[in-house]
Amino acid sequence: MSGARANPQQKGASLVGAGIDRLDARLKVTGKAEYSAEVPVANIAHAVIVTSAIARGRVTRIDTSDAEAVPGVLALLTHENAPKLPGATRREGPIDRLLQLLQSDEILYNAQPIALAVADSLEHARAAADLVRAEYAETAPVVELAQARDSLYVPKTAGPRAEPTSERGDVERGLRAASARVDVTYTTPSQHHNPMEPHASIAVWQGNERLTVYDATQGIFGVRKKVATVFGLPPENVRVISHYVGGGFGCKGSPWSHIALCALAARATGRPVKLVLTRQQMFSLVGNRPRTEQHLELGADRQGKLLAMRHDVVSDTSRFDEFSEPSALQTRMLYACDNVHTSHRLVRVDLPTPTFTRAPGESSGTFALESAIDELAHELGMDPLSLRVKNYASRDPDENKPWSSKSLMACYEQAAARFGWKERDQAPRATRRGRHWIGSGMATATYPSRQSAASAIARLRPDGVILVQAGSQDIGTGTYTIMTQIAADALGVPLERVRFELGDTTFPETPISGGSQTAASTGSAVRRAALGLRDALIGLAVKDPRSPLRELPADALDVRDGNLVARDGAGPSGATDSFVEVLRRSGKPEISVRVDSPEKPERKQYSTHAFGAQFVEVAVDDLTREVRVTRVVSAFGAGKILNAKTARSQLIGGIVWGIGFALHEHTAWDARTGRAVTRDLADYHVPVHADIPDIDVIMVPEEDAFVNDLGAKGIGEIGITGVNAAIANAVFHATGQRVRDLPITPDKLL
Ligand code: MOS
Repeated sequence: MSGARANPQQKGASLVGAGIDRLDARLKVTGKAEYSAEVPVANIAHAVIVTSAIARGRVTRIDTSDAEAVPGVLALLTHENAPKLPGATRREGPIDRLLQLLQSDEILYNAQPIALAVADSLEHARAAADLVRAEYAETAPVVELAQARDSLYVPKTAGPRAEPTSERGDVERGLRAASARVDVTYTTPSQHHNPMEPHASIAVWQGNERLTVYDATQGIFGVRKKVATVFGLPPENVRVISHYVGGGFGCKGSPWSHIALCALAARATGRPVKLVLTRQQMFSLVGNRPRTEQHLELGADRQGKLLAMRHDVVSDTSRFDEFSEPSALQTRMLYACDNVHTSHRLVRVDLPTPTFTRAPGESSGTFALESAIDELAHELGMDPLSLRVKNYASRDPDENKPWSSKSLMACYEQAAARFGWKERDQAPRATRRGRHWIGSGMATATYPSRQSAASAIARLRPDGVILVQAGSQDIGTGTYTIMTQIAADALGVPLERVRFELGDTTFPETPISGGSQTAASTGSAVRRAALGLRDALIGLAVKDPRSPLRELPADALDVRDGNLVARDGAGPSGATDSFVEVLRRSGKPEISVRVDSPEKPERKQYSTHAFGAQFVEVAVDDLTREVRVTRVVSAFGAGKILNAKTARSQLIGGIVWGIGFALHEHTAWDARTGRAVTRDLADYHVPVHADIPDIDVIMVPEEDAFVNDLGAKGIGEIGITGVNAAIANAVFHATGQRVRDLPITPDKLL
């Protein structure tokens, strides 16, 4: 990474936590950061996917004769002539998906790959793709949830790992004892992730047994494994490189069909091939958030003590594969309640397989739970914040473990104070400002703090630069920057002495950048590698008779500005030895330390989650019923903040999507054809700048000695959680109208 900004910190102050600019910012804004589709590869050919016009049935005839006549065409692959792939129909584990790789005539969803045009230019490939003609034997697709009822079943898991059903105490008895009850159903729509950068791959074969893939992905090691499986190769024969990724949000988490199709095209033509999805294709080929129907029953005594909670979720999956949106998981642990039942069920529809979408489960689930809590508060005539505080869970009631740390009370207090919640008149439809009804609402935010095993290597080079490498990815979140901060801090060197590299499967293995776990997982490995290098340098110095630090005990030494120094009072005063000198005298070309960093063992004894509080104000136009969010104040307790600037940006980004979730985003599926009608950014509405007010984010300082070595909880997803409920609650407060079906478009308030 070049272009590191000078260390803005005082000498000796910690770099971790400082809100320094992204190290890749200049490269990105000047267009020098090379994204996957931009990697220059000689003699490259271009592939364009042809997609089906029906959702269910078979291809009875496919005619490529006109397409083949287009100049520059190198290959037209269909199920009739595509090479058979040994692992095409394998699914590996809970985050993997079944792919559609031209291996059969079967159509499983609308806009599925049915052919691949490969040509010497993108224009030729696109022209050829347009000329492919297919005929089908069509079966009417099942698209609507209501049509799919009879397929209802219990999935293997909720999300990748959780039990689909949970039971604590006796919900029916709790409900009978309750003096206030809520019994309601909420629905959330399909959504598409729409990162700015479309999915893109370049595949380059070296002979028939080895290949390199440049790919826009959240998980290079997952892509390596998938491509290796599909082609029947050992994983070490596949190298995946991903230096910059323009957003992921979950849709770049699992490897999808286009990656293997790109490699297939390269294999078939003997040329390197580039394949970039169009925006329209991203509405069928890379997953979506599924629809949910969530039935909530809550019961409380007169003082607001929760006596029973029931949360039953139905979401949709494809007919051929399984993904379950785990929307009830937070209901198991968010409030102290003795009687809790949750369940997740799926129905099968003829749509693409859904997938992880920012805070999968918690973002759709907190809409239901945190709306229902607001409805219960209204039933009780109680302030909704007081109701939440009344039922505060001081340990995890689901796992029956203490929290590793929890600052939710401080989040409630600080955000409420800054928002001015105390002055709120509880009555709905009480405040009018000109043409607008004004309302405020709040909700709790929550997201699990995960850590997976990760590895990293730190290497001191003769020029004094410390090269740190870990597979990993930077999906726009700031991975390059925080890893550099972590390594520089651990080694006591300024930022510009560290060069952090990622995005290459030849580097040590790390987990997927999903589930908000990169900082915790890869960050812990980077820290250990840097500390390991420090210890290695100290070990060399104290054993070296030529070192001014010779024969000092190792624990008497510290690092400062690229030197080893004796701690105060230890050894000859002012004795130092520089890293570079230690390396030079060792006679080695470099000193390197590679570490494996497992999940922190102490985590098992604790429940690890981040929490927050979302407060919003809305103005609802009395004539048009348009809802505008006019103010957001949010507070989060997410452990150690590694970079105040990139963290704030992550949290704001989540909140912005929360606003889109509440008011704008909605993939409309055509019930007759199973085709996404909203297939571009004109029809699929996301918030624009004018939709977003000032967002005031409070990061509550939080120490956590158990969650991982860094004490960082992960912040990529918690920001979105609860925002949609806070807005729906504010709309109720403004208008007296309760909308339980997202998004809250004006027609639902007429
Ligand atoms: Mo995130 S939806 O876990 O990429």
